[in-house]
Amino acid sequence: MTATVAEARAELLAKTTASQRISEDRAELLNSGLAANLEMPHPVFIQQGEGAYVVDADGNRYIDTSVGFGLHILGHVHPVVRQAIEDRTPLGWMFGIHSTSQMKLAHLLQEGSPCAERVVFCNTGSEATMYAFRAARGYSGKEKIALFDGFYHGAHDYGMWLTDPRSPVDAPQPLPMGHGIPQALRDLTLLLPYRNPAAFDLIRRHRDELALVFVEGVQSSNPQPDAGEFLRELAQVCRENDVLFGIDEVITGFRVAFGGAQQRFSVTPDIATYGKVVGGGLPVGAITGRADLMNVFTGLAADRGVFSGGTFSGNPLTMEAGAAAVGYLQAHPEIYEQLENNGNRLAGAVNEFCLKHQIPAQMKNVGSMFHMFFQRGEINSMRDAGAEHIDAEKAFYLHCLNRGVLVPGTQRAFLSAAHGDTEVQRLIEVFQQSLLDVYEEQLFKL
Ligand SMILES: Cc1ncc(COP(=O)(O)O)c(C=O)c1O
Repeated sequence: MTATVAEARAELLAKTTASQRISEDRAELLNSGLAANLEMPHPVFIQQGEGAYVVDADGNRYIDTSVGFGLHILGHVHPVVRQAIEDRTPLGWMFGIHSTSQMKLAHLLQEGSPCAERVVFCNTGSEATMYAFRAARGYSGKEKIALFDGFYHGAHDYGMWLTDPRSPVDAPQPLPMGHGIPQALRDLTLLLPYRNPAAFDLIRRHRDELALVFVEGVQSSNPQPDAGEFLRELAQVCRENDVLFGIDEVITGFRVAFGGAQQRFSVTPDIATYGKVVGGGLPVGAITGRADLMNVFTGLAADRGVFSGGTFSGNPLTMEAGAAAVGYLQAHPEIYEQLENNGNRLAGAVNEFCLKHQIPAQMKNVGSMFHMFFQRGEINSMRDAGAEHIDAEKAFYLHCLNRGVLVPGTQRAFLSAAHGDTEVQRLIEVFQQSLLDVYEEQLFKL
């Protein structure tokens, strides 16, 4: 039986009364905007996580495809990570001064990040990318940073750029993402076209001003299985033009392979940034890179030294949780095979269904990272992504939620090692049925 959007909405309203109460109360108190529920199709507040599932304030259980915005690669409350947190807490969880807990995770990062001759810890992915930009500027003495259309590198002012849709595909121009971003920073940003050789010409042309070319290992907004070819060419062009090359592994690190995008695509940058998986579910950021470049972090007295530091950087609780999670991944390489197979099975089944029913939608995935696009045809960069079927897209996510599948409002979705055959099969069924419902209600503009 197909269901309409109105039916799905009514069902959700009836079963999420506690979430709605919280939603109304918090509107009077918490103005956390985008960062709150990231435009979920319907507000739900999560009470509990367990493996591949989360439970909301009303006791509804969902298969979770957010897994903490990609970080719980082992699933929620994994026993090994939980034990590490429990073992650390009686000893104290925060000292400010460096603790005995940092070395284990630093060694694991060195083993899982091909460019990592040195490691610096901080507290979020945003902080890691901010420091990478500062290190590149300090080291090179140049000030411009090149980023790619469709990127996300965190919430600091240096990365708050969208592509002006009116600008040429070969020469994208940045627009600030909201107010409060100084115009002067726009002049320090060079936007490059993603997966487009015009980027190489722009790098050559701006080589004398460019401190760093910075790119996600795989764009989470646009997970392309063949992202590696472009990365390798970029690395080469940067090398030839004496421009530092950085890979943002905040999402891809320890996810698309133990060695992240660097291992998966055989590319080694000068510097890489981490977050998410590395903290075992607690707040974390890290920067890894070539020893001579990373030397700038050793203090202001160092050659071209930059400032770095932070009250919570490298705190023992995060370090222990991170070492437990990353150590477990290292000891269980079969997890990557499972993530890969399950991601491909899910995307394969959804795409086959769309073709069979002529539904203009497709799923892109790189292993366990996936993203639905509501359009047909090739999608090379986010410049190709349209909003033609936005009603269908919104209705699809509402149906999924009503059927017990939580896709984050960012629509950047993930599987974890806790998503087994049962969960993958259920995801396939829910995605297919929800696509069909939307199609039969004629919400696609055909
Ligand atoms: C590629 C990438 N870089 C940086 C960040 C920022 O990380 P955080 O949210 O921990 O600040 C994110 C967050 O999703 C990300 O996807």
